[in-house]
Amino acid sequence: MTSLAVLHASQLITLRGPRRPRVGTELSVLGIIHNGGMLVRDGEIERVGPSDEMEKNVGDADVVDAGGHVVMPGFVDAHTHLVFAGNRLDDFERRARGETYEEIAKAGGGIRSTVEKTRAASELELLTQAKKHANWLLSCGTTTVEAKSGYGLTVEDELKILRVMRQLKEEVPLEIVPTFLGAHAVPRELSPDEYLDVVITEMLPRVTAEKLAEFCDVFCERGYFNIDQSRKILSTAKKLGLRLRGHVDQLTNSGGAKLMAEMGATTADHLEQTDEQGIAALKKANVQPVLLPGSVYALGSSRYPRSREMIEAGLAIVLATDFNPGSSPTPSMPMVLSLACTQMKMSPAEAITASTVNAAHSVNQGDRIGSLEPRKLANFVIFDCEDYRELAYWFGMPQTNSVYVRGDRVV
Ligand code: NIG
Ligand code: FE
Repeated sequence: MTSLAVLHASQLITLRGPRRPRVGTELSVLGIIHNGGMLVRDGEIERVGPSDEMEKNVGDADVVDAGGHVVMPGFVDAHTHLVFAGNRLDDFERRARGETYEEIAKAGGGIRSTVEKTRAASELELLTQAKKHANWLLSCGTTTVEAKSGYGLTVEDELKILRVMRQLKEEVPLEIVPTFLGAHAVPRELSPDEYLDVVITEMLPRVTAEKLAEFCDVFCERGYFNIDQSRKILSTAKKLGLRLRGHVDQLTNSGGAKLMAEMGATTADHLEQTDEQGIAALKKANVQPVLLPGSVYALGSSRYPRSREMIEAGLAIVLATDFNPGSSPTPSMPMVLSLACTQMKMSPAEAITASTVNAAHSVNQGDRIGSLEPRKLANFVIFDCEDYRELAYWFGMPQTNSVYVRGDRVV
């Protein structure tokens, strides 16, 4: 029996279309139904169409009048660092005084300072803080996140973070796709080669044996992990059955995009410094770029990734927040849409496709979420606006009206 009927949406943004990530001009096709309606049964979408047709089949379902509102799939945030302790207010203030991300890291701030706090926190403390983050994400209209470990950097602390994610899934309605990012930084107590050995011979086997992650990620960057070290980690992870993502070409162009292509990764993330050859390599290997303008903005940089060239090259681009305490303290996909349009010259429609259906494919969930089509999960958002372009246009102001996960209202 139909349990929920959403009627009279000014624009029902379905994103219906081919069952694969969208490229080129397809990024602009949102599959909008004006005065649209949707029927939900058992947490899944049953039918989508013009409101008057849907109305005939309402039966005794609960009716939600979405008149004057945009209804669209929940955002899929394909790159977050959801579980960490504390914040980085001191780094933030130092950056405001003109120091760079790399200088602050060398002077005792940066990732390692969050590692210290995260190691000192109990599983329960981390879970409590992560719940707060999850609720922020939901209230911005995000219903699924990819979440990375990476602030533990010992076997036990990395496993602790991944277990917190597993517990979090049980306690909040946000859907979570876990990624192991042991290679986020080299801990103070070990040399780079010693730590590489720990990641490869101890962490990866434990993470996969306990089925704690679906993806493996590395921070491939000067001062973190170089190309050879990253290749070793990623190829071990691949052999153990994990899919691959990577933080590449963020601060320097080190050939990271090419490495992700060579490894057959699912995504290559950041790419602020990636050149034409890197873009061509991603295209050839069918790797999805995950672009993170929130981190460019929050680091006070003006070098955004070359999104137009990537779209022209036929890449299935994704937008995400990079939610983390250091370089991107925002849970807001609408803010990311604003940055994509104003700083990266993407259209509002392209930005929405990149943060829903394309993002869903990038976390290997393209058949379950990311669009409003029959048999997908009823994960959707009702926004306080009539036209989808308003989401990117009014910035710095929440427009979430309500959020549904598997047919249940959660915000
Ligand atoms: O995606 N680049 C590496 N990792 C994060 C930053 C994490 C941090 O500064 O705590 C990023 O930007
Ligand atoms: Fe990141």
